[in-house]
Amino acid sequence: MDDKPIKVLLVEDDAAAAEIVKALISQDAGVFEIEWVVNLSDGLSSLADNNFDLVLLDFGLPDSEGLDTFLKLQKHSPMVAVIPLTATGDESLALKAIQLGAQDYLFKGRISGQLLTKSMRYAVERKRSEEALRRAHDDLERRVVERTQELSAANAKLTEQIAVRRRAENELRRLSHRLVEVQESERRNIARELHDEIGQLLTGLKLVIEMASRMPIERLGEHCHKAQALVNELMGHVRDLSLDLRPAMLDDLGLLHALLWHFERYTSQTGVAVKLTHTGIENERLSPEIETAAYRIVQEALTNVARHAGTNLVKVSASADAESLILQIADEGKGFDVQSSLAAGRSSGLAGMRERAQLLGGSLEIQSATGNGTIISALLPLEQGESIA
Ligand SMILES: Nc1ncnc2c1ncn2[C@@H]1O[C@H](COP(=O)(O)OP(=O)(O)OP(=O)(O)O)[C@@H](O)[C@H]1O
Ligand SMILES: [Mg+2]
Repeated sequence: MDDKPIKVLLVEDDAAAAEIVKALISQDAGVFEIEWVVNLSDGLSSLADNNFDLVLLDFGLPDSEGLDTFLKLQKHSPMVAVIPLTATGDESLALKAIQLGAQDYLFKGRISGQLLTKSMRYAVERKRSEEALRRAHDDLERRVVERTQELSAANAKLTEQIAVRRRAENELRRLSHRLVEVQESERRNIARELHDEIGQLLTGLKLVIEMASRMPIERLGEHCHKAQALVNELMGHVRDLSLDLRPAMLDDLGLLHALLWHFERYTSQTGVAVKLTHTGIENERLSPEIETAAYRIVQEALTNVARHAGTNLVKVSASADAESLILQIADEGKGFDVQSSLAAGRSSGLAGMRERAQLLGGSLEIQSATGNGTIISALLPLEQGESIA
């Protein structure tokens, strides 16, 4: 306990009893400072105005009687130690007050100086300990609540991370599955091409050669011409097939040259003109994955324009900086309803373009509306040092 005097409020309507208490306390002058009031309402006002350490409380006051006096005071000033002063013999009331939080009780007729001051010191000390314990308990509770909140936030974050990871794994599984499907479908196309086009031409060539062996010598020249025409056609088909599989230009000269070459071939085959603008890809080589994806996306978008847009002009732009390659293929043709086309799931061109971009960590956006043309925009992120020029 520190050296400051203990401030005591005596609430007692009996002047004689009050004088006795004051006299007893005065023996310990300097240890206690006492203020006396005669009813509860004055007591409560004094408590509101001053910091008292202790209240000596008579239960029988003009404005309050019995245990109620204690309860009202405790409700008003829960931090102050209270010692009830009860009439002699009313022990059950005093014990009740102790159960409800009073620090001690004294019987008025039996107070000695030593008993009173000892009881008051203990009461104040006990109340302070109780308060310290309560604060420590509250502090502990607060920390438990904080820690619980931290743990549940960490738990929620972890659950979210698991969900994100699971989604990414599912997406990867879906893309791998799709990759196999695409490879199978490409193989089917090559097989069909070999069988239908090249197989037919070879059969024709074989027939021409067989017939030539049975022809009179003067008709041989005519058959030779037929055979030559078939061989030329065959060579054209084989070249187209090989170019469709993978233009050598892409590996040898890079994206820009492969695109320019493709546009020329495309325009001559479809009659659709291509207007190209580009920045950042003139003297730069990008990684093979990016160049292939970019080439295939433009190729599919152009094929779609020729097949579906009903226009004779398409604008292509390609621009690369240190972070990304951005492609845009825009036509002013028929347009279409993007959502229903994607949802229908019949065609693989649009989905394939998007998957190519996503596999490289990029994205592809399709803007179109019936009668309003179509814009395909792809963003392919370039890693640091992506350029291999
Ligand atoms: N530029 C465009 N202009 C108008 N309609 C388009 C355009 N691009 C796509 N479409 C519409 O979107 C549909 C889906 O295109 P997608 O490329 O996915 O399939 P597809 O071209 O029909 O078949 P494939 O799977 O062989 O590419 C097309 O059938 C067409 O109706
Ligand atoms: Mg298509």
